[in-house]
Amino acid sequence: MKYNRIPLVAGNWKMYKTPAEAKQFARLLREKAQGLGGVEVIVCPPFPALPAVATELAGSRIGWGAQNMHWAPEGAYTGEVSGPMLQALGCRYVILGHSERRRHFGETDEQIRQKLEAALTYGLRPIFCLGEDLSIREAGGAEAFCRRQLQAGLSGLGTINPADLVVAYEPVWAIGTGKTATPADAVAVIKALREELADLQNEAVAGQVRFLYGGSVKPELIGSFMQEEEIDGVLVGGASLNVDSFTAIIRGAAEVRGQRD
Ligand code: 13P
Repeated sequence: MKYNRIPLVAGNWKMYKTPAEAKQFARLLREKAQGLGGVEVIVCPPFPALPAVATELAGSRIGWGAQNMHWAPEGAYTGEVSGPMLQALGCRYVILGHSERRRHFGETDEQIRQKLEAALTYGLRPIFCLGEDLSIREAGGAEAFCRRQLQAGLSGLGTINPADLVVAYEPVWAIGTGKTATPADAVAVIKALREELADLQNEAVAGQVRFLYGGSVKPELIGSFMQEEEIDGVLVGGASLNVDSFTAIIRGAAEVRGQRD
């Protein structure tokens, strides 16, 4: 059975850009991405920039998302933002489980599981990030580790609508380091994750959920990743902060998929 998964190019801006800078970026992106069809595009700005970006992108084919959320709908959690708050802004996507959140803010698999559940409850589509660090890769344990992270994040969730979940394989050693996994490495892990998802959910869900690669994605590399059937898109950090490099990545993805579809 062959599934038609629409490729996704997502920009994770991390803690960069003021609302004014974000607005300017969104305006330019809207212009430059015109005519690049066949690929879904989203940007994930920091919270304060979300309203300006939402306004600027309204009515365009570019979507947007947040970078984190709390699992509770509201409560005494100083400094946190909830799913219903994002939903009320019109937010569609939310990055969850990013390795920077795990590492710098101590997010656990269980908290990420609760966040995934909450996101789906409040109509947000999680971009669930996972990936091994260098010591695990060197010890040959990348696939098993990533399978466990997937299982921990999705355990106890009912049947998922596959359109609502995106999984991003982001090896920690490739994030912000300029080192990328090879497309073959990414394919091997994504294949293992799809198998795990088939066990956790079912074949149809596993065949339809989109799996992205993330970690030092640059315009010159996009073609090699998008040529792989298993890779449904990319989650881009640094190269998504510059409108020309981000547009070049979108164009590269659109060119490859245009030939394939
Ligand atoms: P870089 O593209 O800067 O390596 O970041 C990847 C990332 O963390 C995307 O979420």
